[in-house]
Amino acid sequence: QCNLEGKWKNELGSIMTLSPLDKNGFFTGTYHTTVTANSNLVTKESPLMGNLNVFTADTQQRVFGFLVNWTFSNSVTSFVGQCFVQKDGTERLQTTWLLRGSAATEEDNWSQTSHRVGTNVFTRLNTEEA
Ligand code: BTN
Repeated sequence: QCNLEGKWKNELGSIMTLSPLDKNGFFTGTYHTTVTANSNLVTKESPLMGNLNVFTADTQQRVFGFLVNWTFSNSVTSFVGQCFVQKDGTERLQTTWLLRGSAATEEDNWSQTSHRVGTNVFTRLNTEEA
């Protein structure tokens, strides 16, 4: 069974902590990123909120989405993904993200998500590493 609650780390070294889910699949959490779009930013832990799909009876492979609202930049990142339980019982989150920056004017709106799309794979952070 896929359980989103807990601490997760991606291949960039970013760490997120997800709260227990409510009965409708809603969750909140915090996100600490190791990288930023602008190199002069000092990162701060940022809040996230998301929702897990609970339609399917197959609790091994559930899809979800969450939004991180960065507290140190004018941007937000949305993630959509799926939790996969491996044969050995470990869970992996395969995600795709879009980073939305802030345009100074509506004429510049076109520029603010281009090339800011990617994938991240999250694995559970062992309590010893945390
Ligand atoms: C910003 O640069 O304005 C905010 C930080 C963005 C971090 C991005 S979100 C997608 C990717 N995955 C991460 O863990 N960090 C980067």
